[in-house]
Amino acid sequence: MSYNVTPCVIFPTLLLLLLLFFLYSSPVNQSVSTFFSPLQNTGRGPTISLETLKSALHVSHHQTNSSSIPINRVQKKISSLRRVEKDLARARAAIRDAVRARNYTSDKEETFIPRGAIYRNAYAFHQSHIEMVKRFKIWNYREGELPMVHIGPVNNIYSIEGHFIDEMESGLSPFLARHPDRAHAFFLPISIAGIITFLYRPLVSYDRDPLIHTFTDYVDVVARKYPFWNRSLGSDHFMVSCHDWAPDVTREDPDKFKNFIRVLCNANTSEGFNPTRDASLPEFNLHPFKITIPHLGLRPSRRDIFAFFSGGPHGDIRKILLHHWKDKDSEVQVHEYLPKGQNYMQTMGRSKFCLCPSGYEVASPRLVEAIHSGCVPVILSAYYPLPFSEVLDWSKFSITVPVEKITELKAILKRVSERRYLKLQRRVVQVRQHFEVNRPAKPFDVLHMVLHSVWLRRLNVGLAG
Ligand SMILES: *[C@@H]1O[C@H](CO)[C@@H](O)[C@H](O)[C@H]1NC(C)=O
Ligand SMILES: *[C@@H]1O[C@H](CO)[C@@H](O)[C@H](O)[C@H]1NC(C)=O
Ligand SMILES: *[C@@H]1O[C@H](CO)[C@@H](O)[C@H](O)[C@H]1NC(C)=O
Ligand SMILES: *[C@@H]1O[C@H](CO)[C@@H](O)[C@H](O)[C@H]1NC(C)=O
Repeated sequence: MSYNVTPCVIFPTLLLLLLLFFLYSSPVNQSVSTFFSPLQNTGRGPTISLETLKSALHVSHHQTNSSSIPINRVQKKISSLRRVEKDLARARAAIRDAVRARNYTSDKEETFIPRGAIYRNAYAFHQSHIEMVKRFKIWNYREGELPMVHIGPVNNIYSIEGHFIDEMESGLSPFLARHPDRAHAFFLPISIAGIITFLYRPLVSYDRDPLIHTFTDYVDVVARKYPFWNRSLGSDHFMVSCHDWAPDVTREDPDKFKNFIRVLCNANTSEGFNPTRDASLPEFNLHPFKITIPHLGLRPSRRDIFAFFSGGPHGDIRKILLHHWKDKDSEVQVHEYLPKGQNYMQTMGRSKFCLCPSGYEVASPRLVEAIHSGCVPVILSAYYPLPFSEVLDWSKFSITVPVEKITELKAILKRVSERRYLKLQRRVVQVRQHFEVNRPAKPFDVLHMVLHSVWLRRLNVGLAG
């Protein structure tokens, strides 16, 4: 019954906050206030009704006679949702003010102040990050058992998934809510990579059904046990996964997952990834027991390789790249195998431009490796919203070459003036801190950026009690 309330729960108008990040290039005075004005209605617009909430609570306590739930308990639940929403409203207002004043407000001393062209709107982002650190509380569901839930891979190409889950599980994160009533968002600590390692061993079947069932069962368990999923129709719930198959888990029941926030490496917009609801997760190829990526980048003047790529012919884009450029040009160095004796990260650090083509899936750890090497990324992909692009303006620190123009790659890169190159390179170094893994996480590092992606999407949704 409480399932049929879709149109009332979410304020469609609230996508405007994302727009604010996207559209900052226009002058502050005219656009911003119009973008924000509908947000002031939070809590007064279409709301989830008291009745709906009561019935949600009834169902959740179906063991007892529903009508025997004391009314004050219902009231308490309602006021806790109101409190959470008020908190978000204050955060929105603070962001709006920061944009208007072109400055931030904080109770604490701020050690890092984001500024410069790499940000779409440095003021909005800074204040939003401050508000997130101050307020954002996440409930990490306790249901489910190892090894598919509560743990994930922390090495190799899916490592960001495991690190995020582990950060939430460690008990140390200041973002963890002590009680679900206090939470602005709900994390499903289920590891898609973990399910696949565990359920598909040995890997003889690519049938997605066992994966999909495991995942939906988990959602059903928490949706039956607690009122939170139904009350928001999933719009304040999120998952984080770097596995290629992760987008498939919501495939069978698109209606149920219509509002659910998926933070994915496999962020292919032509396969249902929706950047206003979902968030693009950067891929990291972390070596066992290491969370750092070596910084072997040379000064721009000492970079003696014009453009570099090394990797297998995975996927269509790389095939095109290798077909046109493999071992053909002394300046655009494209290899299927790294020449003997060369160190991969060192070679990136000697290169001016690092080619980052999509592989079997849109994301590639090269993006992060190029940034850590101070090498200007050249993005060769399609249908790929880049990580954190609601905050970061990738055009200011990377070059995008459309797949159809791969043949003209060298000419396009040669047209980048020395002056522009130096600017791009300097900004690559500047953006690096947003792609650093720290455990525990630190402000503005990649785990905070991931949380910020979720925070921003949560700010765009109003639930009212
Ligand atoms: C949420 O909705 C589902 C589907 O309608 C239902 O099975 C479940 O019991 C509900 N959960 C709660 C806590 O009411
Ligand atoms: C449950 O509450 C209803 C009133 O809504 C009442 O008629 C019924 O007898 C109660 N059942 C039990 C088992 O207490
Ligand atoms: C910005 O705000 C900070 C802290 O509130 C203050 O110290 C600083 O002077 C302000 N800067 C400008 C340019 O107003
Ligand atoms: C993105 O999705 C489209 C449509 O399924 C597919 O053709 C394309 O290969 C995908 N891109 C990558 C890099 O996987």
